[in-house]
Amino acid sequence: MTPPVDTPAGRGRPRVVLGVGAGIAAYKACELLRLFTESGHDVRVVPTRDALRFVGEPTWAALSGHPVAADVWESVHEVPHVRIGQEADLVVVAPATADILAKAAHGLAGDLLTNTLLTARCPVVFAPAMHTEMWEHPATRANVATLRERGSIVIDPAVGRLTGADTGPGRLPDPAEIFEVCRRVLRGRPRDLAGRTVVVSAGGTREAIDPVRFIGNRSSGLQGYALARTAVARGAEVVLVAANVALPDPAGAKVVRVESALELREAVLSASAGADVVVMAAAVADFRPAQARESKIKKSSGDPEPIQLVKNPDILAELGERRRQAPRAVPYPRVIVGFAAETDDVLANGQAKLAAKGCDLLVVNQVGRGLAFGTPDNAATVLVAGGEPVEIPRGPKDDVADAVWDLVAARLA
Ligand SMILES: Cc1cc2nc3c(=O)[nH]c(=O)nc-3n(C[C@H](O)[C@H](O)[C@H](O)COP(=O)(O)O)c2cc1C
Repeated sequence: MTPPVDTPAGRGRPRVVLGVGAGIAAYKACELLRLFTESGHDVRVVPTRDALRFVGEPTWAALSGHPVAADVWESVHEVPHVRIGQEADLVVVAPATADILAKAAHGLAGDLLTNTLLTARCPVVFAPAMHTEMWEHPATRANVATLRERGSIVIDPAVGRLTGADTGPGRLPDPAEIFEVCRRVLRGRPRDLAGRTVVVSAGGTREAIDPVRFIGNRSSGLQGYALARTAVARGAEVVLVAANVALPDPAGAKVVRVESALELREAVLSASAGADVVVMAAAVADFRPAQARESKIKKSSGDPEPIQLVKNPDILAELGERRRQAPRAVPYPRVIVGFAAETDDVLANGQAKLAAKGCDLLVVNQVGRGLAFGTPDNAATVLVAGGEPVEIPRGPKDDVADAVWDLVAARLA
């Protein structure tokens, strides 16, 4: 069961309007609805007329416990075309079809959902889903840009299998991930990263010994994914460079998958050109085998030869160096954040790393004591270039991520 929600001050259960468009992914909105209701939200489902062709009114009514209408002509004495939007704490449209995005961007009001979108004064989240061609069409891009300019949160669709056999960007993100974005928006986090591009690396690299074996580390990617998820909720465009992470993609982040330190370096450096912030949360191997064998090393071939290691490039230092050498007018990335997992002399090692790397913030974790790798909680000390260290108390990794973004946003401002 999902943890209970934060209720807006002085109110009962948070009121959510779930708008449903006529896309094949409408069935996934049932799961999103369950996540809301099971965590104490009061949800009104407002499907479009065509959405009811995909999932019928009885399903929405039974799961939400509220009557369901698509038109403005039912229960007119209660003026639902105005009241539902006015009373909402959050409106989320999932799936948001190309048609709904266009209508919302142009202020059309031909049904109950579009009326609700015009009367709502609360945060509005769109989770688009459509074929890649529709998503990439200039008309849709312009509509999304308009909605974002007006303050709506439009979650970028995931990349994956679409309605037919084809794949590409356009898939509805995992309902649990859409729910996470909504939950954080309801908690009233600031949208202080709106218009910013951030790059987050997450997970742990694998350095091939042979086609079967590798040198790896214990990083699960949980903290990096929390950073990506919370940055989306704060309005950022997020590129998540994920090294060997077995977690669902955070809704709205563009995920680039890599395996080795060299691949991660290439992906981070390419994404960071023009980015406002780079957060290196991935555990990147310091060394790799000098040569990865092309065939599996066999036990039968006698005693193994020692594996010779060579140093991997220091990506954090390279980012700092690139910024130092950038023209004064283009000091990108404006904020560079490193992570350091230490077991001994945590702060002294962290201070040395901050000074050596030229980054702005260094999030220092003490590994062990049930923290850091693979655990839901974390705690950290953030070393600040030119400032005092900031303690982030033990808490869920999303909260630790938000505390890091608070410091980043302050530096950007
Ligand atoms: C089987 C089927 C699947 C569809 N899936 C999508 C979709 O995923 N995204 C989308 O934008 N339109 C999709 N469409 C087209 C929309 O249903 C159509 O544009 C409709 O007018 C949108 O209505 P709405 O504003 O009620 O969402 C689909 C149509 C069909 C027949």
